[in-house]
Amino acid sequence: MSKIRKAVFPVAGLGTRFLPATKAVPKEMLPVVDRPVIQHVVDEARAAGIEQFIFITGRNKGAIEDHFDIAYELDRTLKERHRTDDLAELARDLPAAGMTSFTRQQEPLGLGHAVWCAREMVGDEPFAVLLPDMLHQSAIPCLKSMIEAQAEHGGNMIGVYEVPFEDTHRYGIVDVGDGPASALPIRKMVEKPKQGTSPSNLAISGRYILSPKIFELLGNQPRGTGGEIQLTDAMVTLQQSEPFHAHVFKGRVHDTGTKIGFLTANIAYALERDELGSELRAALRTLL
Ligand code: UTP
Repeated sequence: MSKIRKAVFPVAGLGTRFLPATKAVPKEMLPVVDRPVIQHVVDEARAAGIEQFIFITGRNKGAIEDHFDIAYELDRTLKERHRTDDLAELARDLPAAGMTSFTRQQEPLGLGHAVWCAREMVGDEPFAVLLPDMLHQSAIPCLKSMIEAQAEHGGNMIGVYEVPFEDTHRYGIVDVGDGPASALPIRKMVEKPKQGTSPSNLAISGRYILSPKIFELLGNQPRGTGGEIQLTDAMVTLQQSEPFHAHVFKGRVHDTGTKIGFLTANIAYALERDELGSELRAALRTLL
């Protein structure tokens, strides 16, 4: 596989678990501390050297597109008020002109279908997929170490993390053979195994490096669980002809698509911040 230049961000889901907050605001725009969830994930991709950011959006997701654009009126007001730090931060967060693309998934037919919508923008090269719900907190960005491992070991790569065995029935789980933790050969992928039957406690974390062959498979993929086109089903088929590796992420994964994961992410990211950490610790102690 060649260099990973493009990343796909599927952001077309309805975010029903966060209603009514997500009635008019995309769930990807909900803040973790003071940055929208999607900004955290785009930051991870930028730190990994991604050059093209492809967003699969849907109805009511316009705020995401606006977020990755210059806000002239705001910039002018900040300039007039000499808020140079804020201006610099806004400029820093913005991918350069031409680095973002947006396409609409007209119906939310599932994650696999959302990824398939990126086929023309990705073309015939390997690419990354980052689920914006899943925040990966660590000093070394998860996608960066995945790209490095993929350059060394080749094949398709799936980010995984350790979860308690008793919770494995809630996740996509991989069964792996022997190898380095950065690239364990995947024998099998199992979606939400029944309790007590899971082959491992390595859960799929929402980071993928995939070969473009996945698009052809997704295009012919019948609907799976929940009537949706599942990315995992197409990966299982692709595994018959291409190797897959699991990359064990050593940091903390927060599923911000759930209320508890979202709240925990806010606390965990705020505790890391110099200007917030000690005050938040004291506030939490008082609360508890
Ligand atoms: P989720 O199922 O977790 O997100 O999909 P959701 O559907 O927005 O959330 P709930 O369950 O209704 O609360 C994981 C990711 O895949 C995207 C979502 O936007 C989310 O980032 N997705 C999902 C799509 O882009 N299209 C789809 O059809 C489904």
